[in-house]
Amino acid sequence: MRDGDLKKTVETLRWIDNRLEMIDQRLLPHQFVYVSHESAAEVATSIRDMVIRGAPAIGVAAAYGVALEALRWRDQPAQEQRSALDEAFSVLSASRPTAVNLFWAIERMRVFCRNQSAADASSLAALVVAEAHRIYQEDIQINQSLGRFGAELLHDGDRVLTHCNAGALATAGHGTALGVIRSAVESGKKISVWADETRPFLQGARLTAWELMQDHIPVTLITDNMSGYLMSRGEIDRIIVGADRVAANGDVANKIGTYMVAVLAHRHRIPFYVASPLSTIDLAKASGADIPIEERAPCEVTGYGEQFWAPVGVSVRNPSFDVTPASLITGIITERGIVSAPDAGKIRQLFDL
Ligand code: MRU
Repeated sequence: MRDGDLKKTVETLRWIDNRLEMIDQRLLPHQFVYVSHESAAEVATSIRDMVIRGAPAIGVAAAYGVALEALRWRDQPAQEQRSALDEAFSVLSASRPTAVNLFWAIERMRVFCRNQSAADASSLAALVVAEAHRIYQEDIQINQSLGRFGAELLHDGDRVLTHCNAGALATAGHGTALGVIRSAVESGKKISVWADETRPFLQGARLTAWELMQDHIPVTLITDNMSGYLMSRGEIDRIIVGADRVAANGDVANKIGTYMVAVLAHRHRIPFYVASPLSTIDLAKASGADIPIEERAPCEVTGYGEQFWAPVGVSVRNPSFDVTPASLITGIITERGIVSAPDAGKIRQLFDL
């Protein structure tokens, strides 16, 4: 990746010899393996199967999926390459439904391709690859800006709870919620983190705990049912989570369990922040009720990997996200600043509307 002097600890995605490599996040923290991709269909499968996950990371991966497809067809007639790109847009769009960054990135690539008048497929391929690199680099820069704004909200010595993984692994680098924590630590504040394990896919236990330990940021792992107890004892000062889609009224869809944490935070008067780049805000969805919520396979609830603990045949629900109403959110941290007590008017102002 051509990321200049941008500081990164974990390289979630990397572009090597016209191939996209992504850390297989299903294997973390025990194995650190990169999986190579050469087509949009392969990228779509990896997004669906959670090789890569986290809203901004999914968007960046999809942009590179389009770039791979443009390259695959670079020696073919321009018209055939355009048809292959149309097919790539639909295959990638079908991979996961909730994180809007996926659709944001696909739309940006679609418009970019439409506006190029490159005469031959090879020239278009080079331009599309460059646009994917831009999306990657912008994502890191956006997270760093967002991190700087959010860091102002954290006090020296804060004990911060986070849910799921909204770190470098969920983005091109730095992270959103963990980016705020990283920026605060970089500014000299002493911050410690409570990481919810985040059933059923364990992004907190497997990814957040690992990522923070790589950076030597103090982290303590808890199960999802422990945070209420810790809040009642005054052991949590602030909460920061990421977002998969923010509706026009400030409602936030994020990893299942986020809503529960927000309700508890409200009960205990603990500030509850959402770190979200503008690309995660979907003005086309009036409220959280309009956001599509992914339901994943029952086997994620009945066990993990090769291990199954529930009775065979038990009925299971597995909604992967929930919606936290804007009224429970202290502020949404974006690369343009913090929206306190979010509502439709303030969200529109963010976009200069
Ligand atoms: O199912 P996942 O792991 O893709 O869900 C990820 C989350 O819910 C994150 O909290 C969210 O995408 C924010 S990532 C910066």
